[in-house]
Amino acid sequence: MKKITIAIDGHSSCGKSTMAKELARKVGYVYVDTGAMYRCVTLYALRHQLFTADGAVLEEQLREAMPQIDIDQRLIDGKTTTFLNGENVEREIRNLEVSNHVSPIAAIPFVRTALVAQQQKMGREGGIVMDGRDIGTTVFPNAELKIFVTASAEVRAQRRYDELQQKGMPADYADILKNVQERDYIDSHREVSPLRQADDALLLDNSHMTIDEQNKWLMEQFEKAT
Ligand code: C5P
Repeated sequence: MKKITIAIDGHSSCGKSTMAKELARKVGYVYVDTGAMYRCVTLYALRHQLFTADGAVLEEQLREAMPQIDIDQRLIDGKTTTFLNGENVEREIRNLEVSNHVSPIAAIPFVRTALVAQQQKMGREGGIVMDGRDIGTTVFPNAELKIFVTASAEVRAQRRYDELQQKGMPADYADILKNVQERDYIDSHREVSPLRQADDALLLDNSHMTIDEQNKWLMEQFEKAT
């Protein structure tokens, strides 16, 4: 059977990666978390003081640094794990400091050009489930299956809060809700590849769905598409 390309886009913290990973595992496809790639560039920029005190990015310095930023995702004990220049940063890239700085980084055209090129290379052979914001519109406009996921900002903030608590990481619901709303705004208003539903993407609002229900729904869409 031909291996297809599956693009899963949508708002922050709406469970895209949970469903994308589960589908990839079930059907034996490769899963790529493109948000983690933007988070790696952000972590690098934070560590190298490439932000001004008011949160603006020092773009020229970042442009020069881009060739030194190597991002890799591997399965470790069955879990997709992100490496920045060989260091396992899976946990660090999820903290609120990175979340608060990632959207301005993801709005920079040369950052997007570099990461999109890498993503297209990874998915060249098909057999891939990729989640992000612009996969169905820019990275793989010809993907055979495109899903656009959303849920209310409050539901998403609560899920993110529960997830951080479970991992024993610091979490404040009000801060998380603010971050979710700010990222929605910046992601959908930026000039390059703004977050939007591709015309041929299926819409999934999972505000009132369990993880099992959404996994089942996604599997049905996969079966229809293959
Ligand atoms: O998916 P996640 O929330 O980890 O993504 C972090 C941020 O990276 C998003 O808020 C968005 O600014 C950016 N992003 C993007 N394009 C993608 C994936 C993520 O702009 N394909």
